[in-house]
Amino acid sequence: MPDTNPKPWSETTIVGKALPKIDGRERLAGVAKYTLDQNLPDMLYAATLRCPHAHARVVKVDLSKAREMPGVRATLCDADKEANIPWFRRPGGAPGAGSRLFDPHCRYEGDEVAVVAAETQQQAWDAVRAIQVQYEKLPFVSNMEDALKPGAPAVQEGGNRDRPSTYSRGDVTKGFAEADVVVEETYKTSTELHTTLEVHGSVAQWDGDHLTLWDSTQGPFGIQASVAGLLGIPLSKVRVIARYMGGGFGSKLDPSKYTVIAALLARKTGRPVKYCLSREESFLCVGNRPAHTLKLKAGVKKDGTLTAFELNGVAEIGAYPAGATAGYMVRELYTCPNVKINEEQVFINAGQNRAFRAPGFPQCAWALEQTMDTLAEKIGMDPVEFRLKNVSMVCGVDGNKPYTSIGLPQCLRDGAEKFGWNEAKSRARGDGPIVRGVGVAAGMWGYLAPPSSTAIVRFYADGSVNLNMGAADIGTGARTIMAMVVAEELGVPLDRIEVENADTGTTQFSDGAGGSKTTMIDSPAVRAAAIEVKASLLDMAAAQLKVPVADLKLANGEISGPGGNPRIAVGQLRGLQMQQVVVGVGTRAPHPANKSIRPFVTHFAEVEVNKRTGEVRVVRMLAAQDSGRVMNLMTYRNQVLGGLTQGIGLALTEQRVLDAGTGKMVNDNWHDYKIPTAMDVPADLTVLPIDLHDTEVNSTGTKGLGEPALIPAAAAIANAFYHATGVRATRAPITPASVINLLNQSRLNQRRG
Ligand code: MOS
Repeated sequence: MPDTNPKPWSETTIVGKALPKIDGRERLAGVAKYTLDQNLPDMLYAATLRCPHAHARVVKVDLSKAREMPGVRATLCDADKEANIPWFRRPGGAPGAGSRLFDPHCRYEGDEVAVVAAETQQQAWDAVRAIQVQYEKLPFVSNMEDALKPGAPAVQEGGNRDRPSTYSRGDVTKGFAEADVVVEETYKTSTELHTTLEVHGSVAQWDGDHLTLWDSTQGPFGIQASVAGLLGIPLSKVRVIARYMGGGFGSKLDPSKYTVIAALLARKTGRPVKYCLSREESFLCVGNRPAHTLKLKAGVKKDGTLTAFELNGVAEIGAYPAGATAGYMVRELYTCPNVKINEEQVFINAGQNRAFRAPGFPQCAWALEQTMDTLAEKIGMDPVEFRLKNVSMVCGVDGNKPYTSIGLPQCLRDGAEKFGWNEAKSRARGDGPIVRGVGVAAGMWGYLAPPSSTAIVRFYADGSVNLNMGAADIGTGARTIMAMVVAEELGVPLDRIEVENADTGTTQFSDGAGGSKTTMIDSPAVRAAAIEVKASLLDMAAAQLKVPVADLKLANGEISGPGGNPRIAVGQLRGLQMQQVVVGVGTRAPHPANKSIRPFVTHFAEVEVNKRTGEVRVVRMLAAQDSGRVMNLMTYRNQVLGGLTQGIGLALTEQRVLDAGTGKMVNDNWHDYKIPTAMDVPADLTVLPIDLHDTEVNSTGTKGLGEPALIPAAAAIANAFYHATGVRATRAPITPASVINLLNQSRLNQRRG
């Protein structure tokens, strides 16, 4: 049934409120079962020997000592024929060069060499230490500059360059010629790690030729498909369960080796196997946001008209291909007739990149939004005004389609007003060692998945309800939001609704919880299912009460006619009593034709820079988000606060550090890899929902939130840094040492005149 119920949601009674998560208590009390909590009778534990070198060839693996260690029940390495399955890097992707499960060519510190299954986790780790490996160490490259030098060690057999891509519209040469001001700068971001609270892992159990996997994943259906494909078994014999998940940020979308290894070890031993990574492994081996170098040239006329953008981008993608481009917003965010983009990806001997909360977009904002700031200053225009003037009201890369809704102008205007932009901008920066500044940056999110969701709602005679949907709740509150949609449609209290989700064996299909699309794709299907249930209940009541269905209303467990008469409790419906349950099935209607769907965002930041110590302190931030209709104000706020926090990390503290001498990561732990703590995040964070009711996007009015909540945050901080100091920090993170260098350099330049 289509999701095009025309009822406006102005009568909202539940959706939009700030409600705590329906499973918050389970999560907090520790009774929610995550993958790591899944314990099965006779379960074994796995651990992996990973290559300790940045680049090496495995000459010989000797497992004989390891096999004799206490508790060891199985081992696997490249010599085992059951491990001889082609590994791929992305679902549906072709096997890459040398991409085996235990590839003898180890391309980074962390590549899998051999695994062990033992009676306890400790015994598994002890056995790993007893594995004897002879490595041939190879020369390595730890950064793209070295990787691109002639004669550099080849990370992949085909060389160190991957997937060049280009985009072009108009004529940039003409565009720059028409400009009054042309600026050009090279911006750099660092490699960032996902640092999910729950480590990655799987529990595998075979029952005959049926495989059940509890997997810490954003996309159980994707895992089902990839595991079935790799093991050559039918989809119908693979069940993947991902009921609770503790953070993925993109690193738990694609299938990982640990899942397949757990399945292989479980098959080999005939016992369930738990394989959860250690914290250090989760820093080394499960993905990252690749460091980007973005050279951006831009032209503008004195009146603020953009004439051209030219972007040359390189991503440092680690040892394996995964896809990493960053030019998207340069093409689409602002009206600009002439755009040229060249991007390429460079292999280095380090952990591979993976999707990470708005892949490429925060990097793009770092370059584009600092450039916009520079242009505004050069032509003497306010940065908010300059952006407002250039906001593209149609989707420039999508055939100039209009958007279903575009709240970016409102994000800029309302955000500036609420932030006190004009006043803050003209405030004195300070002439002591500590200076203050404010900055703004905008963004959009450009991912769009096909609408491919089904949901089932079961309404029971006692008024309790079961919602069955495929979507994983990766910590965002998806289960709560969907339950709220049902509660509102059926007029039942939230605590009467049970949600079953993210289990390929028992729930409906949903695409992976990524791309900030879960709410926009699944909530319309959920609503449609609830509407179908309601229609059945009203039909039953009409027949029983002899009242036309159009005159009946369902609310608070009762169906009533005009003026409340006649009136019947739902539980008294004879039809419902006879069959005990009414079932509704809903699917998501297609995306609107000839329209583009995009969430928009503007972030504001105020910072203090200590010119003596180089410390940058974020004093306050404001996030104006256009994600369509707000579904739950509390989970909405939480997503945005998380986005701002990750933005502070990108701007100021986070970077993977590889040792120049060994190519090994030196900060593969939560002590030395600096995510922002409570000390780094200001209390003064304002979340401003631009609550546009997008009646075209779908039947719930929602767009996406999770990723846009991060995109421009770091760039806003960088612009505030510039406003405070008059110096551009082109490289993220802006560490105290880099600030001292930048300020010294700028003083030297001034002295030289
Ligand atoms: Mo997201 S990076 O699509 O989980």
